[in-house]
Amino acid sequence: MVVFEKNEQIKSFVTERRKIGHLIGLVPTMGYLHEGHLALVREAKKTCQAVVVSIFVNPTQFGPHEDFERYPRDIERDLRMLEEERVDAVFMPSVPEIYPRGYVTYVRLKGLTDCLCGRSRSGHFDGVATVVTKLFNIVRPDKAFFGQKDGQQVLVIRKMVEDLNMEPEIVTVPTIREPDGVAMSSRNVYLSKEERKAAPALYRGLMAAEAAFKDGERDSQRLCKIVTDMIAGEPLARVDYVEIRSIPNLEPVEIIDGPALLAVAVYFKNVRLIDNVVLQPGNPS
Ligand code: PAJ
Repeated sequence: MVVFEKNEQIKSFVTERRKIGHLIGLVPTMGYLHEGHLALVREAKKTCQAVVVSIFVNPTQFGPHEDFERYPRDIERDLRMLEEERVDAVFMPSVPEIYPRGYVTYVRLKGLTDCLCGRSRSGHFDGVATVVTKLFNIVRPDKAFFGQKDGQQVLVIRKMVEDLNMEPEIVTVPTIREPDGVAMSSRNVYLSKEERKAAPALYRGLMAAEAAFKDGERDSQRLCKIVTDMIAGEPLARVDYVEIRSIPNLEPVEIIDGPALLAVAVYFKNVRLIDNVVLQPGNPS
């Protein structure tokens, strides 16, 4: 496994691999890796002969009062985990390598980004779209892998790729969970013992709503109430949103008659956890 910090180095690495016919797979991450990230790597390894993982805590997707400075980092451990997965290259640029002095260009989607996580994290998806565009231009992958855990993010990336005629095929990988159902996340380490014990309420709520949906409930408000009630049972949890929106355009839905995203965000003090399930009428998933 080779580790690069400079754009030019990773560019020439993938150029060489492309010359010998390798498909290039990119897994963008912010590091502090867990089994969720590794699931993306394993999926990439299935079809790509050269798998590149990027590790970059992207400042432009954090709001001024968010956790950029204290976002958890452990590069040594990350590199050991990636080595074990037989990743071909790691790209870990510095902030000035990606955003040199005088940097002014941003990618902004006019729809999709104002609702759900975009409402409480204004500008967040501009930062994501911008850095992912840059990573695509630097690595020029054939395929790029994203987790369903960040359901809105993957829809934003797919829309951007479509609108801007970008090349990479976007692959979505299912959410990996802890044994008690909590979606794996680098931010779970911020939770106190008590908060961690309360965190499965998100998943339990989603599962209860999904069960009602499978029993024929199609009313969004009633399905969302099932989730909200479940979370209300945990005094440490404060709901940011519980919403059902259409896939892929994230429009509000009253009665579900097509694929929809049931998405939830909950605060435990200032730690914000998100989770979601996809509801597919007529498709026993
Ligand atoms: P990060 O939070 O590090 O996540 C990197 C990728 O791992 C994302 O595609 C995310 O959806 C996926 N992922 C995280 N937890 C997962 C889980 N439990 N199961 C499955 N996949 C999971 O998302 C980002 O970084 C950034 O926004 C990024 C795309 C790298 C741009 O900066």
